[in-house]
Amino acid sequence: MSDVRAGFESLRHELHDPDLPVQGDWPGWLTGTLFRNGPAQFEVEDESYNHWFDGHAMLHAFRMDGERVAYRNRFVQSQSRTEALQEGRIVRSEFATDPCMSIFGRMMSVFNPTPTDNASINVARLDDQYVALTATPLPVAFDPETLDTLGVVDYDDEVHADMSTPHPHVEPGTGRTLTQMLSFGRQCRYKIGAIPAGTKRRELLATLDVDRPAYMHSFGMSEHYVILSEWPLVVNPTDLLLRGQPFIENFEWRPGRGTRFRVLRKADGAEVATLEADPAFGFHHVNAFERGGTVVCDIVTYPDASIIDALYLDRLRSDDPTPGTGTLRRYRLPLNGGAASSTVLSDERVELPRIHDEDATAQPYAYVYGIGSRRERQFSDQLLKIDVGTGSAQTWHEDGTHPGEPVFVPHPEGTAEDDGVVLSVVLDPAGEQSFFLVLDAASFDERARATVPHAIPFGFHGQFFE
Ligand code: CO
Repeated sequence: MSDVRAGFESLRHELHDPDLPVQGDWPGWLTGTLFRNGPAQFEVEDESYNHWFDGHAMLHAFRMDGERVAYRNRFVQSQSRTEALQEGRIVRSEFATDPCMSIFGRMMSVFNPTPTDNASINVARLDDQYVALTATPLPVAFDPETLDTLGVVDYDDEVHADMSTPHPHVEPGTGRTLTQMLSFGRQCRYKIGAIPAGTKRRELLATLDVDRPAYMHSFGMSEHYVILSEWPLVVNPTDLLLRGQPFIENFEWRPGRGTRFRVLRKADGAEVATLEADPAFGFHHVNAFERGGTVVCDIVTYPDASIIDALYLDRLRSDDPTPGTGTLRRYRLPLNGGAASSTVLSDERVELPRIHDEDATAQPYAYVYGIGSRRERQFSDQLLKIDVGTGSAQTWHEDGTHPGEPVFVPHPEGTAEDDGVVLSVVLDPAGEQSFFLVLDAASFDERARATVPHAIPFGFHGQFFE
């Protein structure tokens, strides 16, 4: 049995290797950079963060020029990290960790909250900048060559938000970036913003009052609609204000509410349908598209929100860590007031789902890539390519290793949806290292790998940019 604990240990070493050792047949057309993000430091002196989502963000860049693969890793020098290192203690509240505070300090933090800018979840391009993202509306810009932190990006607008999804969508055709936000206050509101290409201005497409906001990590986008999946994991905003406990621990599982899908029309912000479904929980919308009068919405789901508890570091480092994988479920959301229905698309257990972004987003599509678990109750140990039409899957695995999120990169002259490669960073605990893996996306066979001289902690999301 391999030891997944290596994926949840701090990596303090920053390095630049201009020429990683490569094995196999590296695709000559594959030029560009894969940026990946994830937590890499889980302690500050003698204090520890509680949850996988809390650790200090680190960026990893794999730059490919057709011959060489260069690797660089750097911490995001967020204010959250900088203050913690300066003071030798945890200073800002994270997802599931609050700093130790006196009653006075806690009271002051209510009136003067400093949200975390520990941008550890995803990366994106915003206007002319590369940014690291987390679930607060504080994107942190970085230099794509050096990975130097350039600072929090100021949006060029007056939109108030306390939360902002780390999974924005780039809209096909317009190139706008759609994002979903939440503001707390006397009246809490969900907000959908559209950032026109070449700007940092969030134009509000829709606003929705909500009394008990749901915890939502991502949202769906089809051609004409956005879809909010209100899982029954909700918060009384007063509890958040009083902040007796870390952020996520204020949310309560209320299965009696069921799941509510709120379908908002991009054109005018109208809520055109609200549909109820069985209680469930999910982090990741996979894709959504319209078929007749129905919005089809594919999401990786769990029966309940206990997956959040299973991702506390003490549980992940235990002898029985969660597999960390869920069920690929297709929801059909009729817009004429009918009932929502859902089916499971595949028997495979899957997470960190990706698609062919350029061709498949908001369209009927064929393939989902993800990580999976080869056996029930086993920590994720394979890569998957699921055919959403048949539910069958192609897989890649190597004994004792644990792959991360697969990112599809299309062949420049490709025509088929799966004409290209899949990139993943794979942890090899026994070798105390990771490797950068290139699979042929069509056959799902290995084409090449490049070995990194240290073990990279498990990350969340990455993006490839030319
Ligand atoms: Co995510």
